[in-house]
Amino acid sequence: MFENLKEQPADKILALMGMYKADPRDDKIDLGVGVYKNAEGVTPVMRAVKAAEQKIWEEQTTKAYTGLAGDPDYADALINLVLGDAVTRDQVAAVATPGGTGAVRQAFEMIKMGNPEARVFVSDPTWPNHLSILKYLGMEVVPYRYFDSETGGVAFDGMVEDLKGLKAGDVVLLHGCCHNPTGANLNMTQWREVVALLNDKGALPMIDIAYQGFGDGLDEDAAGTRYVAENVPELLIAASCSKNFGIYRERTGLLMAVSADAGKTKLAQGTLAYLNRQNYSFPPDHGARIVSTILNDPALRADWAGELEDVRLSMLGLRKQLADELQKLSGSDRFAFLGQHRGMFSRLGTTPELVEKMRAESGIYMVGDSRMNIAGLNTQTVPILAKAIIDAGV
Ligand code: LMR
Repeated sequence: MFENLKEQPADKILALMGMYKADPRDDKIDLGVGVYKNAEGVTPVMRAVKAAEQKIWEEQTTKAYTGLAGDPDYADALINLVLGDAVTRDQVAAVATPGGTGAVRQAFEMIKMGNPEARVFVSDPTWPNHLSILKYLGMEVVPYRYFDSETGGVAFDGMVEDLKGLKAGDVVLLHGCCHNPTGANLNMTQWREVVALLNDKGALPMIDIAYQGFGDGLDEDAAGTRYVAENVPELLIAASCSKNFGIYRERTGLLMAVSADAGKTKLAQGTLAYLNRQNYSFPPDHGARIVSTILNDPALRADWAGELEDVRLSMLGLRKQLADELQKLSGSDRFAFLGQHRGMFSRLGTTPELVEKMRAESGIYMVGDSRMNIAGLNTQTVPILAKAIIDAGV
């Protein structure tokens, strides 16, 4: 039967990783996949992660299964990191998942179980894998306007207009912070307006938060999510620890189902555990244990938060440098939005042809929609990128 299988479309981000690797040029610059790199181009293991792994190695006495929901300490710690005191613990059903992607996938499946008719409204653009998973699950997708390529900011009027097309029971997928791929984010006034609209329509928000701590700070980046949690009857949250703990390959995520009515939590918890069992049984534990070890140890937590803050500030510095270089070279402020974006990514807002030209002529690898991973830069390569952008005629 294998001969009956069809070629599947390559994931654009992962395909770009392969192309970059195969390029022999020494001065190539990788602004593709969303992985943090320091000034030396290395994705380091964070100090607190190393220390937590050592502690686990010394203290762990068994590798027997945890539970279908994963280790409860991990869920408690991550719920607290994401939601603070926006809700009480008994309002949250949660399961550990293989990465944030696992949480996204399980959330969509739960939506299908709860309301097979639900349409999922997604920002245009969104992370391509959101669309790919929704398509795979046969769920109806409705894009809403999000990015204004003229200003580089959120096209908020268009977004609101499109969300007015929501029907009761539809789902709206929002990015908690550090929007991927654009880097343009809602401010608190806009979050409030979106929540009022969703409540008015009877729609269910789902938040993907994969970059907490990469934008304005750990609490600042969670502010929108916390506001939503406090003000809607139900909310799904897919959280990832890949980036803020730098444990990409450990596949560490958490899916949360938040209800204003704590009486609903038991049913949601049972459903999420059931979904884990169907898809992969027990979720991976090592990354989750690293996270809970760090978050529950004041010294490790402080060290982790400090290192994360250094990472955040280095990306912010690179953004500012790039915006300044482009200001100098173009003699205009039309790239100032790059300094205002937050997180790992910025969408330059140019055509796939010019993206390809920069790759061919200057060895610069950004995703075809002109998404750049700012962490792929360092202070020496920023001027090279700025020149390539101007030379290409962006
Ligand atoms: C990205 O958007 O580059 C990351 O989330 C990695 C991925 O899996 O696509």
